[in-house]
Amino acid sequence: MTPAKSFAEFFAGIGLVGLALQRSGWLCQYANDIDPKKTAIYDANFTDHRCDLRDIWETDAVVERMGHPFLATASFPCIDLSLAGHWRGLNGKHSSTFFGFAKVAEKLGAARPKLVMVENVVGFLTSHEGKDFSAVAALLASLGYWLDAFVLDARYFVPQSRPRVFLVGIHDSVASTHVIRQQASTALDDAWLHALGREAKLRPPSLRRIMQTVELETGWAATPITAPPQSAYTLDAFIDTDADQDWWTEDEVEKHYNRLSDRHRRQVDALVRSRERFVTTGYRRKRNGSTKLEVRFDGIAGCLRTPRGGSARQIVVVIDDGELRLRWMSAVEYGRLQGVDRFEMHPNERQMLFGFGDAVCVPAIEWIDRCVLSPIFESCHGTARRNGRQSNARASAKSHAGGQR
Ligand SMILES: C[S@@+](CC[C@H](N)C(=O)[O-])C[C@H]1O[C@@H](n2cnc3c(N)ncnc32)[C@H](O)[C@@H]1O
Repeated sequence: MTPAKSFAEFFAGIGLVGLALQRSGWLCQYANDIDPKKTAIYDANFTDHRCDLRDIWETDAVVERMGHPFLATASFPCIDLSLAGHWRGLNGKHSSTFFGFAKVAEKLGAARPKLVMVENVVGFLTSHEGKDFSAVAALLASLGYWLDAFVLDARYFVPQSRPRVFLVGIHDSVASTHVIRQQASTALDDAWLHALGREAKLRPPSLRRIMQTVELETGWAATPITAPPQSAYTLDAFIDTDADQDWWTEDEVEKHYNRLSDRHRRQVDALVRSRERFVTTGYRRKRNGSTKLEVRFDGIAGCLRTPRGGSARQIVVVIDDGELRLRWMSAVEYGRLQGVDRFEMHPNERQMLFGFGDAVCVPAIEWIDRCVLSPIFESCHGTARRNGRQSNARASAKSHAGGQR
């Protein structure tokens, strides 16, 4: 039998959604991904089950294997929702796999998960002028889900800029007291409207506009979320600065120093002169046909990406005691910036960089679980648990009575 607090992780990659969920007692019922390199990393880290190495479009086989979990998550590929995929959107070969997920949900019929969580880059909101996001919302609504949406940036938890859009579907058959549903008429004191506007950081105007204008077969919903407290951190604590690292040669450092823009070079020079310690990251970028080194000065790393081409891999920049040092960021550091402390690493570093670059940030998912997913699960199972407690109490009263006889 499927355990109550169970989930299925679609587009599982190396399993960081599941890693976060398992920390609060969710049990993985099923995981799926088509990439054998990623599933190998997944399987090395989750030893009680295996990731089903299968195309999401093999609907019948997936449905047969996945059981009936309460929650299904889908971090579908983002390539087509970005410049890298030429903004092909949901028509693109990669991002259209969302429809494979929807087909699985459709096929499950009444056994459909009560909760779904879809995740993607913020380009998901604007792709094809918002039509792609609206199409996904409309399709999930046609499957009976009320929808809440928000944007959450990993920088609340770790020194990495990684804003992501989350769309949470709550099935109509679930009467959750944790969710405020949109009403047919929008009066000014409408509780849903009020909840929607409560946290502008999580639901920016562009998203609120969609939620207020796109009509769904079910409707929009809102969970009472407020922006997470900002964690106190320094990038220094996530980066190894000792001499044992693979630091670049002086020639290589000089080559990259010469690739800095005038403004960035002046900032780096000032830090070198001050002899203060400064730890940050940079990226190689093509600007007007020439390669540049762009460095961040705001205390956080840029968004980790899969290292396709030389421009996508992060560079560690350390200025210490008047010296500039540079090197590629390691997979262990990628992991730390995704909130992963212990993880079985693949010996091929590039494979790990691909895995982490594509993944979710673990503490961001933990926060969503704490504020949205687990409370909805609890509010649905509260009655069952209370009933369970009553019958346990009755059973225990009975046994006492038996003992007295
Ligand atoms: C954005 S990544 C998800 C990463 C994951 N959330 C993690 O934390 O590691 C998207 C994943 O979708 C998988 N994928 C792409 N096409 C697929 C398909 N047709 N069937 C199943 N999985 C697919 C990719 O292999 C990739 O791992």
